[in-house]
Amino acid sequence: MIIQCKNISKKYPGTAQPAVQNLNITINEGEIVSLLGPSGCGKSTTLRIIAGFEVPDEGEIILAGKQVYGKGIWVPPEHRDVGMVFQDYALFPHLNVIKNITFGLKRTRDLNQRAKDLLKLANLDGLESKLPSELSGGQQQRVALIRALMRQPCIVLMDEPFSNLDASLREQLRVEIKSILKQTETTCLFVTHNQEEALTISDRIIVLNQGKIEQIGTPEEIYFHPKSLFVAKFVSQGNILEGICSGNTIKTEYFSLKVNNIHKNNGKKVNVIIRPRGLKPDPNGLIKGKIEDVQFKGESYECIVKLFSPQGATTNFKITVDVQTKIKPGIQQTFSIDENQITII
Ligand SMILES: Nc1ncnc2c1ncn2[C@@H]1O[C@H](COP(=O)(O)OP(=O)(O)OP(=O)(O)O)[C@@H](O)[C@H]1O
Ligand SMILES: [Mg+2]
Repeated sequence: MIIQCKNISKKYPGTAQPAVQNLNITINEGEIVSLLGPSGCGKSTTLRIIAGFEVPDEGEIILAGKQVYGKGIWVPPEHRDVGMVFQDYALFPHLNVIKNITFGLKRTRDLNQRAKDLLKLANLDGLESKLPSELSGGQQQRVALIRALMRQPCIVLMDEPFSNLDASLREQLRVEIKSILKQTETTCLFVTHNQEEALTISDRIIVLNQGKIEQIGTPEEIYFHPKSLFVAKFVSQGNILEGICSGNTIKTEYFSLKVNNIHKNNGKKVNVIIRPRGLKPDPNGLIKGKIEDVQFKGESYECIVKLFSPQGATTNFKITVDVQTKIKPGIQQTFSIDENQITII
């Protein structure tokens, strides 16, 4: 295990709520783990505590087998062997690429070779003598990562590293950074509030909500098996309906669902989470709706559908359909449910 955080809590002076509470985090060698959650949930605080820029109120931190916090122990950031990559790159503006990435290191032949190899891996060869101001945002962020990797830290901590970049560059850089981390067998804790980013880059995701861990799991586990309504809403952008179990059926205001093995829950209230691909346009479907809005996303359309209940109530659902689907705002449409895209909580 590279990182072990045990029962970490931190309350900033003068604030009502702890920024983080009872965090237990373990990260294995070579893993990419994301801390995912909305603004203010404690992501940066957690990262800063692990790096040593913030002191927790209680708990223990062990990095690569060495205790760096707890029971009277406090190791300062410069002796923790962690690399940091921030959203604003934080490169030295007056130093060129090679001087930025070797700053503070002894220029041996091995080190020069390592710099050369890493620059090549990050597709930055040929840019050694450029100043940061002569590079694109994506290039600057790759330089920042290479600078962190030059020191061969036990772990790289990244705080929203792509948030200053536009959407298409962000997607491209995600793939490149993941590939660099995997090829160099680097362990990484990665902070983001973007669920898609977390799902694509991570081996495991830690979902944080108001300073507490909601769920830890692989991207598939978090997406397909959310353990709470918060995770369902935040990670899969699921639509939520209340339902009542009756035999092997769940009745909601808008439709009923046949489900296996719920007899024991007879009469019980549940939440039905229908992910964006869970409601499919189907000419033989029994669910009636009206398309309110359609957004083209390249590979798919994202639509808002107004559903009508038999009693005349309405609710809006967010759905995703393939681009082959004939769909446009204003039309009436019937739908069926894809059971693989449903979670009952
Ligand atoms: N130096 C500080 N002093 C007082 N309160 C702070 C300080 N830094 C953060 N906080 C508070 O602690 C909580 C967690 O903040 P943190 O910066 O860790 O959130 P975050 O998840 O990184 O959010 P974002 O996505 O907006 O960056 C917030 O309520 C924030 O206002
Ligand atoms: Mg933050």
